[in-house]
Amino acid sequence: PSKRSLIVVSNRLPFVLKKAADGRMTRLASAGGLVTAVAPVVIKGKGLWVGWPGLHLPKDFNDANIPESDPSDQSPTAGLKSEQVVTVNCDPDLFEMYYNGCCNGTHWPLFHSMPGRTIFSADHWRAYVKVNKLFAEKTVDALERCSQNKGNNGVPIVWIHDYHLMLCANYIRELAEEKNIEFQLAFFLHIPFPPWDIFRLFPWSDEILQGMLGCDMVGFHIRDYCLNFVDCCQRNLGCRVDRKNLLVEHGGRSVRVRPLPIGIPFDRFVELATKAKKVIKTKHKVILGVDRLDYTKGLVNRLKAFEVFLERHPEHIGTVSFLQIAVPSRTDVLEYQQLKEEMDQLVGRINGRFSTAIWSPIRYIFGCVGQSELAAYYRDAAVALVTPLRDGMNLVAKEFVACQINEPPGVLIVSPFAGAGETMHEALLCNPYELDAAAEVINRALTMPVDERTLRMSRLRRREKEHDVDHWMRSFMKAMGSDVEEDDIGT
Ligand code: UDP
Ligand code: G6P
Repeated sequence: PSKRSLIVVSNRLPFVLKKAADGRMTRLASAGGLVTAVAPVVIKGKGLWVGWPGLHLPKDFNDANIPESDPSDQSPTAGLKSEQVVTVNCDPDLFEMYYNGCCNGTHWPLFHSMPGRTIFSADHWRAYVKVNKLFAEKTVDALERCSQNKGNNGVPIVWIHDYHLMLCANYIRELAEEKNIEFQLAFFLHIPFPPWDIFRLFPWSDEILQGMLGCDMVGFHIRDYCLNFVDCCQRNLGCRVDRKNLLVEHGGRSVRVRPLPIGIPFDRFVELATKAKKVIKTKHKVILGVDRLDYTKGLVNRLKAFEVFLERHPEHIGTVSFLQIAVPSRTDVLEYQQLKEEMDQLVGRINGRFSTAIWSPIRYIFGCVGQSELAAYYRDAAVALVTPLRDGMNLVAKEFVACQINEPPGVLIVSPFAGAGETMHEALLCNPYELDAAAEVINRALTMPVDERTLRMSRLRRREKEHDVDHWMRSFMKAMGSDVEEDDIGT
């Protein structure tokens, strides 16, 4: 059968390379929604993955030296062969300005509608342009490699991911057209696309739109983000748009804009939850939070809401505790360092205020947990608190419901400001800004009758099983106007 090549391009590879004491390279799994969702797609589709390996490699580094994954590796990236990986290596100072400066300091807060946290810098933007060109060059190398592979038919698909690489498309086009390479180009944004009023604050917003419109198809998690994008194209660039069919005319081409809500490898999480050993060994109920330590996740509000809950519902004291797993993230950025300080203080204060000799209200893990252990936490928690201030989708909400295999099940609480809040209708909604109401939602979840819990959870699980990551891939292929199924792609 004909095979179409898939080349995924993202800032982060699904693993970080680390140098061991004996000088050998090893792989460490990277955390984050992009990696969790895209890894199964590349592994199953036997695609290529172009990205940054999490450290600065020597100039003469050869991708043939990337180690294979460890046999004991349970991370979602375990099946990714080193020959599927193309590393992007960059001058450390330039990378710092691009990644911590422009991506983490500008695009991340702005696209999450937090302009007060956003830094605008021409130097960072220039670095962003340069690094996008570098990723484009590596992608075209990968495209050349695919076109030499005689087993492949059909036009290869290049799929660019996320806010780090919004300018890549046109550079890829220019370089590949010089070499007469045919391909299709797609983009997917894993974070929200903000409304025009926020987006236009960015001095180079036109360039970003033009970059994204260099693709044949641009995907977002939900329709609201699609409409924001279409609106910006019309108002910034004066493009002709079709809101009903989600089309944008640009440079003589018609670009498809599509809502493609991401899914998780549902069955894999069920299996992990089935096999995982117990990690929560307390007798009382556990309310669980799992997030990268990021200000968009609403962790400070969540702790404060839990404090209000303990004040208003002292009947729960000693019978329930809140366990927060916070994965260290972007630790070179000041905003993230400040958040860490604030969390440490808040956890200390609340624990100091409510603890007894045999119980404390909050357990706080600052660290990364492996997938199997994570599945055990999801399985044995009574309530999951997923309350971001703003979040593109949020996979933790989906992973929690997949792992809820115990009877009777627990309860999911989700913020309406996450993509997951838009799509997981049977979850309890909680506005993280309204602390009193949030405290009451926690109480409602803990006291919800078994029948209601069972009904809500079974509907949530059915939807996530059906709309899993394979479904996402199929929807993507359909949005590319391809009748090719995921089984028909490969390197
Ligand atoms: N995750 C992990 N180990 C941890 C905590 C989280 O591997 O200790 C993973 C989690 O399974 C999920 C991802 O990190 O797949 C977080 O994705 P989400 O969409 O919730 O948020 P993001 O980090 O992308 O903003
Ligand atoms: C989010 C972004 C990803 C990013 C991840 C982890 O999921 O959408 O693109 O990889 O966070 O952040 P990091 O900066 O460590 O790559």
